[in-house]
Amino acid sequence: MKKQFLEAMNTRYACKEFDIEKKISDEDFNFILETGRLSPSSFGFEPWQFLVIKDQQKKLDITEFSWGGRDRATGASHFVVALTRKGDMRHDSEYLNNFMRDVQKLPENVIEMKTGFFKGFQENDFKLLENEKTLTDWASKQAYIALGNMLTAGAIVGADSCPIEGFDKEKTEKVLVEKFDIDMGKFDLAYMAAFGYAKNPAKHEKTRRKLEDVVKFY
Ligand SMILES: Cc1cc2nc3c(=O)[nH]c(=O)nc-3n(C[C@H](O)[C@H](O)[C@H](O)COP(=O)(O)O)c2cc1C
Repeated sequence: MKKQFLEAMNTRYACKEFDIEKKISDEDFNFILETGRLSPSSFGFEPWQFLVIKDQQKKLDITEFSWGGRDRATGASHFVVALTRKGDMRHDSEYLNNFMRDVQKLPENVIEMKTGFFKGFQENDFKLLENEKTLTDWASKQAYIALGNMLTAGAIVGADSCPIEGFDKEKTEKVLVEKFDIDMGKFDLAYMAAFGYAKNPAKHEKTRRKLEDVVKFY
């Protein structure tokens, strides 16, 4: 398991061009999605929502303003768009109150206590309520944990992938409203990711800093 995980980390790379003829099986793609769904998040609030696009025209629609994603989307088997919740992630939202009750199955007294901690965290510790962006950026950070897991999961089942931030966010959010019927009053666009099989599979040289340059032990 250790060996397989490390091998997946070593062989995964940002694939630039996918083979449009090759599709990831439902079983493998569900495995990838499961690792996103099961990812950890701050306070366990899972602020993410994923759109999975297989339709060719829709892949082109979503990457109309994406310089870093258009070519990846064209041949991708599955194209993921990650959204994060905005106002719903405030400590006093009805959404979170329901989430703690219905998803986390917490009793009322624990919900009250957790909400109090979360309020302090948002207001004082991380100062997330200074403007809308601080809160949505924090929500986005959680969604990136799911991204990392899904990319590695892809490599484990032999699928290639590419994470994508190369897009005009404002213009793409307009596309999400107009062509995907997403309420962008509630959601923020975090990132996209292409999954599929490389058109020209080749061994990629991993370049990373040395462990001693990245880590300081005490
Ligand atoms: C959040 C994020 C956004 C990225 N955006 C793009 C992108 O828009 N287009 C692209 O081709 N690669 C993109 N990449 C891929 C990186 O350039 C790549 O992961 C990095 O150079 C390391 O190379 P490797 O993943 O092949 O090991 C992105 C990576 C991350 C993590």
